[in-house]
Amino acid sequence: MFNFLKKSKGPRPMIVSTDVHCHIVPGVDDGSPNTDTSMELMERMASWGINRIIATPHMTLDTFENTPDILDPALAELHEALDRSDIDIELSRTAEHRIDDFFFQQLEKGAIVPYPNNYLLVENSFVQEPWGLDRTLFDLKLRGYKPVMAHPERFMYYQEGRERYQQLHQAGNLFQVNVLSLAGYYGKSTKQTAEWLIENHMADFLGTDLHHHRHADAIEEYLESKDYRKLLDSGVKFKNDTAFL
Ligand SMILES: [Fe+2]
Repeated sequence: MFNFLKKSKGPRPMIVSTDVHCHIVPGVDDGSPNTDTSMELMERMASWGINRIIATPHMTLDTFENTPDILDPALAELHEALDRSDIDIELSRTAEHRIDDFFFQQLEKGAIVPYPNNYLLVENSFVQEPWGLDRTLFDLKLRGYKPVMAHPERFMYYQEGRERYQQLHQAGNLFQVNVLSLAGYYGKSTKQTAEWLIENHMADFLGTDLHHHRHADAIEEYLESKDYRKLLDSGVKFKNDTAFL
């Protein structure tokens, strides 16, 4: 209430306090390489008002074939460091599941850890829409999952024909938009698509997709921008802080 009395320190807080997409589990993908870096990144995230992180290390065929026996010890190490620090963040993990043969294999093995309440983050290939995507998403729903598509605004093959977004969303698939997209980090077309998804009520979740300090710099710059002020003023609501309770 007395915010006006305080000289503001650091960027404005993030519009959500739960981050549902980031690569801070150390040493398991192209995100943070070690625990010290992860701690630095989490300290920065805490300064944006993030108090809960559900980390999403990549799970992709050939490049990052991450399984629970790889991810969980790395997460445990980060938990230990977090417990020793004064950073107040609740940390857990799922994964960013690329839709490929490795994912289907892990799904059959029961090695998939979804978000709480069975939300499941899935990622398209950047080259083209995965073959049989509608069927895959439908099958996941039959298994009791609620598919959340990671950063659909980033796929160039969707940016042109935006009606595909409507189709996918109307079929009951949820969308997670990246803060970095809104920040313009991936270029103008991705930024405009992200804004369009928000305006059209299709952006269910917001995620940082933070991998490293350069991403954090871009996010901090965005939190100080007019565009971010506009987002706050729009009154838009995301599901980040309510879906996993
Ligand atoms: Fe990601």
